[in-house]
Formats: sequence, C-alpha cells, structure tokens
Amino acid sequence: PAAIKARAKGLPDFAGKRVRLQGWVHRLRKQKTNFFVVLRDASGPLVQLVLTGDCIKTVDALDLTVESTIEVTGTVQKVKEGQNAPQGIEVVVDWWKIVGRAPAGDDAFEGRIQADADPSTRADLRHLELRGETATAVMRFRARLLRAFREALDEIEFTEVTPPCMVQTSVEGGSTLFSFDYYGAPAYLTQSSQLYLETVLPSLGNVYCIQESFRAEKSLTRRHLSEYTHFEAELAFIDFKDLLDHLEHVITSVVDKLLQDPVASEILKQLNPGFVPPQKPFMRLDYRDAIKYLNEHGIKKEDGSDHEVGDDIAEAAERKMTDQINRPIMLINFPKHLKSFYMKQIAGDEDYTESVDVLMPNVGEVVGGSMRISDYDELMAGYKREGIPHEPYYWFTDQRKYGTCEHGGYGLGVERLLAWFLDRYTVRECCLYPRYMGRARP
Ligand code: 4AD
Ligand code: MG
Repeated sequence: PAAIKARAKGLPDFAGKRVRLQGWVHRLRKQKTNFFVVLRDASGPLVQLVLTGDCIKTVDALDLTVESTIEVTGTVQKVKEGQNAPQGIEVVVDWWKIVGRAPAGDDAFEGRIQADADPSTRADLRHLELRGETATAVMRFRARLLRAFREALDEIEFTEVTPPCMVQTSVEGGSTLFSFDYYGAPAYLTQSSQLYLETVLPSLGNVYCIQESFRAEKSLTRRHLSEYTHFEAELAFIDFKDLLDHLEHVITSVVDKLLQDPVASEILKQLNPGFVPPQKPFMRLDYRDAIKYLNEHGIKKEDGSDHEVGDDIAEAAERKMTDQINRPIMLINFPKHLKSFYMKQIAGDEDYTESVDVLMPNVGEVVGGSMRISDYDELMAGYKREGIPHEPYYWFTDQRKYGTCEHGGYGLGVERLLAWFLDRYTVRECCLYPRYMGRARP
C-alpha cells in the first residue's frame, strides 16, 4: 500500500497503516539482526523504528550514525504489553534512506556530551545541545509560557506593543548600558521598555510588551544575562495595592494556564516533579522587615557583617532568605536611594518608595516594579537626585505635563521565571542562545 505522510505526533492513530516519516536519528542500537532507531521528527514525541532483514544489509546501514537525517516507510505497530517504546508503538521499516549523514563518533550531543566537558565547550556546542531532550523541553515550555502571558493579559484587555530596542535614554542607571554608534550619535540597547509603555497609557490604556532588554552585567552569575526577554506591563489609574494584586493575578493565572496545557504540564512533570503552584495571596514583606529577617536568621552581608537599614540586599542574601521562606515573596517599599529616578515615594515616608520585587525560591528576584512619579516637579527632583540630565527624557517628562495620572508597572525576567518554574540551575538554560559576559556566539 502507498505510504501516508505522517509525524510521530498522532502516529498511534495510524496503527496497522503504512506511513512515511522524516527526521533525525536520536538514538541508535545496532544488533546483528535488528537496528533499533529512535527517530526525532521534532513534532513532539519520539518514535521507535525497527530495521531488519534486507533493510540492514545496505551500505547505508553500515554508515548510519546518530543525528543523521533519514526518511523511512514502514508499518505502525502497537508494541507488546510491557515493552517500552514511546507512545507504545514502533514502525517496522520496509524502506529507508539517509538524507544527510552526521559524522560518526560524534559525542557532542546532550546525553552523550562528556560529563567533564568544560562549560565553554558546551556553550560553543549550544546549537547541538538544543537538539537534546532537556533543551527541547525547556524551549517548548518557554513558547507556551510566552503564549500564556499574552492570553492572561489579553483576557484583562491589555494591549500589546513593541517598543524600540535602540534608544538614547537609560532606565536603570548608566553602569549597565551597552552603547553603540548611531549615525555618529551615541545610542544604547534598551534596558527596559518601561518609559515607552508609560507614554501610551493615555491612548491605549493598560499595555504590555515582550521585548528583549540588554544589560552590560559585569558579573557571571546563575541569573544574569546580557540580553534577556523582558515581559513588562504598565497600568493607569491604579494604586500600589492594585499593582500588587495585579502581579499576583498574572503570575498565578500564567501558572494555571500552563498546568492546564497538556504539553506544558507534561514537561513540568518531567523537569520539576516537585513543583508547588503558588497560592494567593503572596507573602508581602516590607524592606525594613526583610533586613530584620536577615539579621535574625544570621544571613550576613558579603563582607560578613550584619545588614543595616539602607543596605542593598545582595543576590546571595536574597536567595538564602527566599529559599528559607520557600514561597513567593513580594518584597516592598525599598529605600529611595537604592531605586531608580522614576519611583514614587510613599506619602509620609518619603525616604521609601512604592516599589516591589517578586522573589521566587531557587532564583530570587524575578520581577521589579513600582508606582511611578506622576508629579512633574517630583520627577524633575528625581532626575536631579540621580544626576541624570533631563533633556533627553523630555518625551517621558511630558507625560506629567500633558494630563498626568497615577500609574505603575513592572518588568519580569522571562528566563528567571523559567528557571524557577522548571527548576533549572541557571537562566542560561532558559533561552535559545544565552548572552553573558564574554559570550555572544553561537
Ligand atoms: O528590576 P529591573 O531592573 O526593573 C526594570 O527594568 C523596570 N524598569 C521594569 C519595569 O518596571 N517595567 O528588571 C526587571 C526584571 C528583574 O526583576 C529580573 O527578573 C530581570 O528583569 N532582569 C534580568 N534577567 C536576566 N539577566 C539580567 N541581567 C537581568 N536584569 C534584570
Ligand atoms: Mg530589580
């Protein structure tokens, strides 16, 4: 019978039928009378092929290697009870050919990569590592996560926009700016799209974007990238409590969507079987109480001393505290001097701001957000305090001139959320081709 073009996904429906498949040799076991090939056709599940008889008496058969591209025809069969095969089926091959041969003895791939391979070799081979089961699962989950964010925000009628990546203003301080020559003038890769989101509140209402942000981070940590995917939202006519409630809603709604998504929930089970969905309300911890917590629990500063009110909470201390508490924390009301020029002060407590970091176990900070200064004079004072020339920000300042309103928003690091979700050691596993100090290839 003629072969039906099929894919591994949905193949059990073709039991008893003759099909044609194309894909890559994921695993290969050569025995005297049988070759067992696990084929990866990138449709989702893997599929086991059995090559036997004349099929393995060809020149090609001698040369067949892992990661070669092949095309086969054969009959789909249910495997016997107790036999292990993806989806409980195998394809008994009657014809096949090599489409693209991979070199023999190549152990560059995940699972076959040498255990002691140094990280830089592994990073050089990222394009091959991406063919591995873990990397594929993370990337598939990531795609679902981005979709869940869009669904969650569309449901509450936020409009998605795409702000520019090439800019001439900084958002989060000068020290992490990547600069480049823009037709003879200085320009930067954006650190955050926040300022642009604020400008369209009067026309589009609540908005969000999923855009790359860039930080010239000079440290190599588990959670810092030079380029990361930034999910940011901005909300008009809200107060600080509304912002915190909204953040809780978005995070729990995205988690719910992924738990209901059969592909995502299967990946989650596989990569993070102990995952506990966060429950509303999240713990809300005032910055000053966090300093107390650190000291009461013997979590010291990097130099070994106790924390004092006014200190920045470093990554290690933040992570220790979050791991101990072991559930999402909304750390709120940071001191003004630790935060950016645009953050709104707390009325009656002017050294502190209406700001929030969401901390997750295993990662620490995944979200940074705040209410924004809505008053013109207060914003001018903010520029001055931070030593920022206000002229290039005229378009941002104008928002306070042409009909201001109370508003706030936040930015969430997609790779950090993924590292928490999927229990990955580093954010570098959570993007396609990670960029960090010293690496911008492949
Ligand atoms: O806390 P950040 O710097 O806040 C802002 O950029 C605000 N303007 C966002 C806003 O209010 N619209 O960054 C926000 C989040 C962090 O919480 C973190 O998850 C992520 O972005 N992030 C990074 N992720 C990976 N690598 C880096 N170098 C990151 N820097 C920040
Ligand atoms: Mg931050």
